[in-house]
Amino acid sequence: MTYQKRTYSLIAVLLFACLSFSQVRKEINLQNGWEFSRDSINWQDVRIPHDWAISGPFDKKWDLQYVAITQNGEKKKSEKTGRSGALPWIGHGLYRTTFVVPTKYTKALLHFDGAMAEPTVYINGKKAGYWAYGYNAFEIDATPFIHHDGTPNTMEVDLQNLEESSRWYPGAGIYRPVTLILTGNTYIDHWGTYFRTLQANDQKALLSIDTKIKGIQNSNDFSAEIGIYDNRGFLQQAEHTDIPSNGVLHSEITLNHPKLWSPESPYLYRLVTRLYRNHQLIDETTEKVGVRTISFDKENGFRLNGIRRKFRGVCLHHDLGPLGAAVNKAALIRQVRILKDMGCDAIRTSHNMPSTMQMEVYDSLGIMAMAESFDMWIYPKCKNGYARFFKDWSDKDITNLVLNHRNHPSLVMWSIGNEIPEQWSKEGQQIAAHLQALCHQLDPSRPVTQGMDRAEDALKSGFAQTMDIPGFNYRVYKYGKSITQLPQGFLLGSETASTVSSRGVYKFPVEWSNSKTYPDGQCNGYDTQWCSWSNLPEEDFIAQEDAPYTIGQFVWTGFDYLGEPTPYDNYWPSRSSYFGICDLAGLPKDRYYLYRSVWNTKEHTIHLLPHWTWPGREGKITPVFCYTDYPSAELFVNGKSQGKISKIKNIEGEVSTGKPATPAEAQERAGRYRLMWNKVIYEPGELKVVVYDRTGNKAGEEIIHTAGKATQIVLNADRPVISADGNDLCFITVSLADKEGTMVPDANDELTFQVTGDGNFKGVCNGDATSLEVFTQPRMKLFSGQLVLIVQSNNHKGTIHVKVVDSKKRLVKTLDIKTL
Ligand code: GAL
Repeated sequence: MTYQKRTYSLIAVLLFACLSFSQVRKEINLQNGWEFSRDSINWQDVRIPHDWAISGPFDKKWDLQYVAITQNGEKKKSEKTGRSGALPWIGHGLYRTTFVVPTKYTKALLHFDGAMAEPTVYINGKKAGYWAYGYNAFEIDATPFIHHDGTPNTMEVDLQNLEESSRWYPGAGIYRPVTLILTGNTYIDHWGTYFRTLQANDQKALLSIDTKIKGIQNSNDFSAEIGIYDNRGFLQQAEHTDIPSNGVLHSEITLNHPKLWSPESPYLYRLVTRLYRNHQLIDETTEKVGVRTISFDKENGFRLNGIRRKFRGVCLHHDLGPLGAAVNKAALIRQVRILKDMGCDAIRTSHNMPSTMQMEVYDSLGIMAMAESFDMWIYPKCKNGYARFFKDWSDKDITNLVLNHRNHPSLVMWSIGNEIPEQWSKEGQQIAAHLQALCHQLDPSRPVTQGMDRAEDALKSGFAQTMDIPGFNYRVYKYGKSITQLPQGFLLGSETASTVSSRGVYKFPVEWSNSKTYPDGQCNGYDTQWCSWSNLPEEDFIAQEDAPYTIGQFVWTGFDYLGEPTPYDNYWPSRSSYFGICDLAGLPKDRYYLYRSVWNTKEHTIHLLPHWTWPGREGKITPVFCYTDYPSAELFVNGKSQGKISKIKNIEGEVSTGKPATPAEAQERAGRYRLMWNKVIYEPGELKVVVYDRTGNKAGEEIIHTAGKATQIVLNADRPVISADGNDLCFITVSLADKEGTMVPDANDELTFQVTGDGNFKGVCNGDATSLEVFTQPRMKLFSGQLVLIVQSNNHKGTIHVKVVDSKKRLVKTLDIKTL
């Protein structure tokens, strides 16, 4: 056949006008009408996404492990209590629902964005599909199993989670959306559209769009239209094309004066594909896409749209703290807002596939993403982990990862693994080469990386040299030697820092240490603790600033997560991490401001620590740190100067030393980024810092006060209005304050919550890694003076009434949230 293409540009055609006559495809989010059971006898109504384990109770018996964590250098086995969160995620779970397929649709596809774990799907009693890996999206052609006469279909999903299958809390259940996609016999393949930018600058962009049409019989009858619309719905450029008999189309479209996507300007176009039979529209899809280029090379490191930059990234596990693994858009948006204000521009979805919702949020808010896949290959890191599946499933898993996410502009690299044990071996190198080639085959537009923790081994086996982007986890002191053996000429800090701290908890005397623990299961908020394999943030700042071959870093981690309570892996009741820059409730720890002072180059940071309410410490040494982007500052206690000090500029880090920092070196290097007054004697009253800019002029100040008696509850909502869609969330930070409004930093009263009106109580979290209070009961103690209450809208527009009660102090506070 003659295969014709016509390109045209109709600036005035509106996307939405065109959409109005298209009725063919139907995509249904199967969110409501599910039942859930652990025993097939007792069923409860639930909505998807759902995490069956997040309501607890916490108990050390869940997934109690007697193991040596070899990755942490342990040789002997010992009891690990909260390693995977101490929540009841192990065992079977069953979900069931019904759905109707109207007779006009002849094809039905089910898209599961992830179900934990090993989902087996039955439709009308017949097994319709199975997927081994709980983190991946998978699709089921439901067509042969459904009733085509419009009568209801039943669907059951059977899940099972094994003990010792995870190094962190995996969640449990259908924790990501399920979508039913209905079409006619000839349709645009769901994962068959592949959009990429071949070249782009401010003047022109060359875009490549591959499309697959399924079910073509007589191709002469069909044609397609590929259109690029701007974000207001105006057509920018389109191509009308015939369809070859194999249904595979390739289009190249030039766009003039494109708006380029970047974290600073996350502009999204709409790619609209329309399929016609004899000029009648029979299918249509719309995807949000971004125009941008990425490159990685020796001369320029990483460039986005031709501009060199270094990743200011964080690693994130998938759980959303008190919401568990159940994905929620409002919670993801909140995470990104908090991180972006810190100056963060990238996220590594450690150590597994991100959700589609997450990638959409990153596209629209502007975060670059590294999408990871596996925490192990053939050799298990825990007894029942993914190693059970790797041989049979890894290619299928990489395929689904890439097909599901390759159109997201935010996605800048794939990762095929984290600290894979076989990085020392030839076999490992071959697997790496194979998986990387598979990524390239499905997506030639992005490079592939992985996080390696054994630099010498990985360099010796050729494993590190194989990767498009050699990623190294920790051990900054090996960077200098490693780079001499890397033909790539650059390296990525794929995982960095692993500094540990508890929000608002300060330990005296302040010790700089990689092995310190305290009897209360907390870590020092002065940011002076790290692990034997890790370091303080400063080592990474120095490596990124001083070593031209570094292309950025991903800090472990942006937020605390459930499970892996290092350095308290053996201490009960620790059940969540201490690594976060923010705590499990999403509240910034002091460390947040240290990163902000370096990463946020648009706004200034002046942050003092610790708090200044220390009854009993009068006359005692109480060091004061200031995290600021300014170079110098003077500190005053009740008006008395404690000295004017400056950051010490020319301190070198460990990049090339070949040795990890000693505590003394770590402290010295901190002086390049922190202003520290180590001899301050505490007296209650006012602590003030005055900061000076590079020219020596006063640039700002920050004052904190000693708190008096708590006389009021303070409620701070992240948004005054949320949407009445039944999913949206409002996050309310709750604290106690004295009559002047100064927060009482050691308040630990138990508060209770009543949520009425057009919404409901969703969860609560105080960020205390040792708390066994459940997230889903409307009561909790303050931790270091704060907690976060989460309320959810229902489908009624109106008002959510929130009441917080402190019965001990007889305080009550109310707040109204509007829902629209
Ligand atoms: C890394 C590992 C992460 C986490 C971290 C804690 O080695 O990749 O998953 O365990 O250590 O520091």
